Amino acid sequence: MDIFEEIRALSEKYPDRRGALLHALYVAQKDAGWLSQEALNTVSNALNLPQATVKGVATFYSMYKHRPMGRHLIQLCTNVACMIMGAESLVDFLKGKYGVEPGGTTGDGRFSLVIMECIGACDRAPAMLVDTDFHSDLTEDNIVEIIEEYK
Ligand code: FES
Repeated sequence: MDIFEEIRALSEKYPDRRGALLHALYVAQKDAGWLSQEALNTVSNALNLPQATVKGVATFYSMYKHRPMGRHLIQLCTNVACMIMGAESLVDFLKGKYGVEPGGTTGDGRFSLVIMECIGACDRAPAMLVDTDFHSDLTEDNIVEIIEEYK
């Protein structure tokens, strides 16, 4: 089943096509790792929604990516609790270890690093997501062990 058909099928589960839009964008992004103009057009056509509506929603939410990303996405929290517990030094550590700046992608395309706001795990700071997996109580030692599990 291609993306167009998958989106058409999932839209049947929603009371209206607009209600399926977030799910459809997720499916389109999962296919390529980001939302190209072609992917946005596919969503628009599959749901029969205006392109402006699809793009407006896709650009509103930070979970949708609009440029190619690494195979894995590291989202490291540097908000207050995580910052106090050393998240900013972890950012510097990752820069040195993997040569990746926040917002950037490693040279081998293995992962992208994004700084994010609180992910609701302040009592277990510093915390991050790798793709959809949650990791907490990060240190320079365990963050490498965790990242190395994602090839
Ligand atoms: S401040 Fe990082 S999880 Fe809340």
